[in-house]
Amino acid sequence: MMKKPMILTALALFSLNQTPVQAGDADAGATVFNTRGCIACHGASGKKPLLPTYPVIGGKPADFLSTELNKLRSGERQSPVMGPMAASLSDDDIANVSAYLATQ
Ligand code: HEC
Repeated sequence: MMKKPMILTALALFSLNQTPVQAGDADAGATVFNTRGCIACHGASGKKPLLPTYPVIGGKPADFLSTELNKLRSGERQSPVMGPMAASLSDDDIANVSAYLATQ
């Protein structure tokens, strides 16, 4: 019984460390999306990909998008095309662009 709260605290800290839960600023995210090259491949609002093999990202949940961007940035998810793009993003950029795309 005594150990349960400590385990929950440890899990909470672990998940904070793994996945930023920072709420993004959608307006700042729109600027990232429109000025940092994203729109060239993912299209307007992230919904009109240049090639059929490129994912639609507009309208997906912010936590999914930020998790995938973090994996692409770290190399846990390998992509020769998207990896270098993700590498150019700060933690704030990821939170903000994810918040923006989730509203599209
Ligand atoms: C040169 C084309 C290109 C550019 C520019 C680009 N992307 Fe991507 N993006 C891709 C491709 C291709 C994938 C699929 C990666 C894979 O193979 O797993 C992808 C995947 C993603 C994913 C994961 C989507 C999913 O459903 O798993 C997100 C989120 C994303 N891109 C966001 C962005 C953001 C934000 C930017 C701008 C900073 C950006 N992309 C710029 C081509 C691009």
